[in-house]
Amino acid sequence: MNKFFRSRAMLYILAVLLMLVFFLPDLIGPIPAVLCGSVVIGFSFYIYNLWCREESDDSAEPGSIGSQEDRPGLALKDKIQQRRKTENIMLLDLLRKRRSIRQFTDQKIEEGKLEVLIESVLRSPSSRGLNPWEFVIVTDEDTIGELARAKTHGSSFLAGAPLAIVVCADPGKSDVWVEDTSIASLLLHLSATDLGLGSCWIQIRKRQYDEQTGSETYVKSILDLDPDMSVEAIVAIGYSAEEKPGRDGESLLYDRISYEKYGNRR
Ligand SMILES: Cc1cc2nc3c(=O)[nH]c(=O)nc-3n(C[C@H](O)[C@H](O)[C@H](O)COP(=O)(O)O)c2cc1C
Repeated sequence: MNKFFRSRAMLYILAVLLMLVFFLPDLIGPIPAVLCGSVVIGFSFYIYNLWCREESDDSAEPGSIGSQEDRPGLALKDKIQQRRKTENIMLLDLLRKRRSIRQFTDQKIEEGKLEVLIESVLRSPSSRGLNPWEFVIVTDEDTIGELARAKTHGSSFLAGAPLAIVVCADPGKSDVWVEDTSIASLLLHLSATDLGLGSCWIQIRKRQYDEQTGSETYVKSILDLDPDMSVEAIVAIGYSAEEKPGRDGESLLYDRISYEKYGNRR
């Protein structure tokens, strides 16, 4: 019913009714004309109100960007931008800020923030709820220094971080432990960003410490991990010492999005 009231046809009907109001005194006499006129004007206000509400809320599922498809001229990013004006998209705000941070100040991570990081990572989804992961929290400077040598490239900056969280798993518990630990690592990265901390993923699985030794073997020996455990990554965390703005919206690869069938772009 609301849909009809909001339709263009309703506007035409309303216009005709309003015009009729002028002729009502001649047609039905002054008193019934005043009564009918009041009803028509009141009804007009009601319709006007519905149209105003449509402008501001799009009458759609909360958060659904597709609900704006009645405005076909808009590109997806414009639709997201427009949706943002009316809704508080907290995760998107966070993602807009997120960057990999590799330089840290000396400031230690407060206990309360560490607790938030731990709770966040333990809330990670995992396949069949098997939770095959384990996390080793490392704050000892010397141990962090040793972990920073886990790879020939891409891990040395860890030496400057006050906190390293090593993300491991028992592959015997789940055949998709790589996915599970990757999600957990990402949640750590996002949660750190949310706490105003900088962080960066350091890949360990399938990387080399040197020509003979894999990074996983090296990290396992430093942390006394069980032999049947595997290491996915280390997340370096600390207060950022570098200014890194979020990625510009213009650089986003919208051409990687297809609709309904691969290759259908908007
Ligand atoms: C699976 C994965 C492995 C990564 N490994 C490393 C790494 O070993 N060392 C590093 O410095 N950054 C690493 N990164 C961070 C990426 O280099 C970084 O996300 C990418 O350059 C994009 O930069 P941004 O995160 O600031 O947008 C890794 C990221 C992912 C997702």
